[in-house]
Amino acid sequence: MKTHYAWVAGTTAIGLLAAATALRSGEADSPTGWDPIPATARKEIKSVEMEIDHIEAESLDRARWAALDRFQQITLLGKIIFYDKDLSVNRNEACSFCHMPETGFSGPVSVLNQTTAAYPGSVRTRFSGRRPQSHTYASYSPVLHYNLEQGDFVGGQFWDMRATGLRLDSALAEQAQGPPLNPVEMGLIDPACMVYRISQSPYRSMAQSLWGAQAFAVQWPANAKQVCDRPGPAPDVDPLPVHLGPVDRGIAQTTFDRIAEAIATFEGSPEVAPFSSKYDYVMAGRAEFTPQEKAGYELFRSKTTHCNECHRDGGPGEEPLFTDFTASNLGVPPNPDLPFYKENTPDQLGYTANPDGLKFLDLGVGGFLASPQNPNHEWAAMAKSYFGKYKTPTLRNVDMRPRTDFVKAYMHNGYLKSLKEVVHFYNTRDTLPRCKPGDPGEKITCWPAPENPATINRKQLGDLKLTGQQEDMLVAFLQTLTDGYSPSGK
Ligand code: HEC
Ligand code: HEC
Repeated sequence: MKTHYAWVAGTTAIGLLAAATALRSGEADSPTGWDPIPATARKEIKSVEMEIDHIEAESLDRARWAALDRFQQITLLGKIIFYDKDLSVNRNEACSFCHMPETGFSGPVSVLNQTTAAYPGSVRTRFSGRRPQSHTYASYSPVLHYNLEQGDFVGGQFWDMRATGLRLDSALAEQAQGPPLNPVEMGLIDPACMVYRISQSPYRSMAQSLWGAQAFAVQWPANAKQVCDRPGPAPDVDPLPVHLGPVDRGIAQTTFDRIAEAIATFEGSPEVAPFSSKYDYVMAGRAEFTPQEKAGYELFRSKTTHCNECHRDGGPGEEPLFTDFTASNLGVPPNPDLPFYKENTPDQLGYTANPDGLKFLDLGVGGFLASPQNPNHEWAAMAKSYFGKYKTPTLRNVDMRPRTDFVKAYMHNGYLKSLKEVVHFYNTRDTLPRCKPGDPGEKITCWPAPENPATINRKQLGDLKLTGQQEDMLVAFLQTLTDGYSPSGK
């Protein structure tokens, strides 16, 4: 997929200005000097922000001039929302900041992937505890349910499946309501703020023509702007600080649902999930694997590696999505580089992202099942057996990157930094010794202890007995899953 660096005159200046403002507002948020963003990441962050502004300007232009059918209009509206920085509290962070096309809609900043793995929020000193997932093909994940036959949970969104989709009958739409209100991400204080900001946007009339005249017909309190400029979370005593009457609150919530659905339509559209990888061309008989890739695919499907038992390459009536939407605990070690571990004191706004500090244990799906967010009481009893399990990600676009020396982070906490490391981990998790503190052989000749030992999958991985060459074959196969392949050669 191409990156967007071709500037239209005029956009450059606006982009630069916006990026500079964003960085400044981020810096102004810093508590006494604590700044987890590595200095070497600044330039890259700036260029991603300019790219986002450019895509946004281009999309707004298309909305103005192109003749579009209804599906194209909703998809484009979803895209405009997805790339709109104004929908974060400090107007500096769009959804796309953590999900850009050139990395298969995962984290677009190489230095961050290499260091912090997680990404800063709109309040730039706040980082979440996990690595941005790729959301390509996430539209295929069903509403979360317990499948009796499989004896397993299937579906939902996020590493821990917590966006169940029960309320909107779409896990993807429900997911889209998370980041805007997450204090470590876009940081809005009230869902109504998302609606308020769009009511002030240049695409308000486009949204209104699709959603109806009631969409923004809300009596906003005089202080709506000031309230929405304050970072969340809302205080317990005033959980919805934009004070609206019950009917206006209902309108705002309904419009917030439409916003989420538009984002989900964009994410499910062929622009994001095109099935255009070399693998797809090979399956359609329009391209051929190299011998290395072919050997890798055979290994991937073999009883030696078990890869396609979880990362399924299709079946009767099933698309090859390279996930079965269930969860597993692979025994991934904790990633001590996550800034989240250090977010255990109140920031300049009085918010503490991680009161547990270094003792923080990410419990994955089990953590969600044990929490008040779990909508189904029967599920709570199963929480313990899901501690440390994470949703199986699709492998489509795992290798998509803008340049060969661009680093991507893998697994829920970004502990692994290359596909070779991932495959080596599957191969040798149980055969290599534990690393000693500061061991130079970490990830090569030794592995640290797992984050959550109790529920580890011991059957399908850990000792695959692959040679180094076979590991490389698997990597070569994974590289054929990148969308945007051109059979005539790139
Ligand atoms: C600051 C970075 C950041 C921003 C901004 C952000 N995300 Fe994410 N995204 C993440 C992280 C981290 C995860 C995994 C979080 C988790 O599991 O708790 C994630 C997960 C997802 C998933 C789940 C994919 C799956 O397979 O389960 C989707 C879809 C997604 N994001 C879409 C969005 C949308 C839509 C927005 C804007 C409304 C957005 N993201 C804003 C970082 C971000
Ligand atoms: C038992 C199910 C299962 C099997 C078998 C399995 N995986 Fe995975 N895979 C997962 C889960 C679950 C994750 C995410 C784990 C986490 O984040 O802690 C994952 C993550 C990955 C990732 C990282 C993707 C990303 O976006 O971070 C790659 C690459 C991968 N697997 C490739 C493979 C290959 C190659 C094999 C065979 C050698 C394989 N997997 C076998 C379940 C499985």
